[in-house]
Amino acid sequence: MKDTNEITREYFERFVVEQRLIDSFVADTSMELFGKTFASPIMLPAFSHMKSMGEGRENGLIEYSKAAEKLNVVNWIGMIENEEFQEILNVNSSTIRIVKPYADKDKIFSQLRYAADNGALAVGMDIDHIFGLNGYDVCAGELMDKQSLEDIKAYVEYTDLPFVIKGVLSVQDALKCAEAGVKAIVVSHHHGRLPGALPPIMILPEIKKALADSGIKIFVDCGIATGSDAFKCICLGADAVSVGRAFRPALYENGIEGVVSYISKMNDELRYMMSFTGIRDVNEFTSDVLWDLNTLKRQ
Ligand SMILES: Cc1cc2nc3c(=O)[nH]c(=O)nc-3n(C[C@H](O)[C@H](O)[C@H](O)COP(=O)(O)O)c2cc1C
Repeated sequence: MKDTNEITREYFERFVVEQRLIDSFVADTSMELFGKTFASPIMLPAFSHMKSMGEGRENGLIEYSKAAEKLNVVNWIGMIENEEFQEILNVNSSTIRIVKPYADKDKIFSQLRYAADNGALAVGMDIDHIFGLNGYDVCAGELMDKQSLEDIKAYVEYTDLPFVIKGVLSVQDALKCAEAGVKAIVVSHHHGRLPGALPPIMILPEIKKALADSGIKIFVDCGIATGSDAFKCICLGADAVSVGRAFRPALYENGIEGVVSYISKMNDELRYMMSFTGIRDVNEFTSDVLWDLNTLKRQ
């Protein structure tokens, strides 16, 4: 079987773009989310387990969080303890905090509470980390556990922050998220945790349709590396996208400035493609500028 990430990459390449120039002008990439305005719908990812990249350098999580602040884009953070999370909030308060599906429910509630009390932008859980090959996953020594609809309802009710479920890859789960009252989902296979998982943008239009009028924000990640990838995701129904592994070499080599430069270049390409397709701002995205090379039909 082909690698999941390879399948996702190939799916991106299926789409080509129609040009709509007359009456178009330079597009505005700014985006509103959870009461704040950001410069771009391109966001930094929920990462964890990064160390300092070298002498005189900070932890990678801090460096990319600083880059997000500089870029005025939404920042995400994954598995860390509350004290480390405070260090992230000190440099970037526009951070969405993703809590693991721990077996220890007290730990979940403690991290949800900490995020709300200390000014995170939103909070959520990556449900695609529940299972490991031997049963429930053990991640960095911590046991994970199943998460029911009732559990998710309880988290939504517990926190005053918008609650996000990360790792939705079916209409079924998307509808359960809606029933639980979540404010956003991330359509994701978490860099290929499920062998042969379908590409997030393949299921995205179906999920978008199923959640129409729900007000739920739909984010996408996995394999997004260019402004063109981001453009295709948003055309197909995403409100915003996260970029993860693609910027890592830039982070390792040039730290904060490396990430700023990588994401700025992506946003320039996104703006360019929006301008070329008559999409003047993020509210005007439409799927019908994309054609599918396999079916030779527009989306
Ligand atoms: C080193 C590393 C650590 C990660 N840690 C987390 C995490 O703690 N929580 C989470 O929700 N996702 C985590 N992820 C997954 C990313 O948020 C993202 O879903 C995944 O990498 C797919 O995006 P990409 O293809 O752009 O990298 C991690 C990914 C990497 C590479």
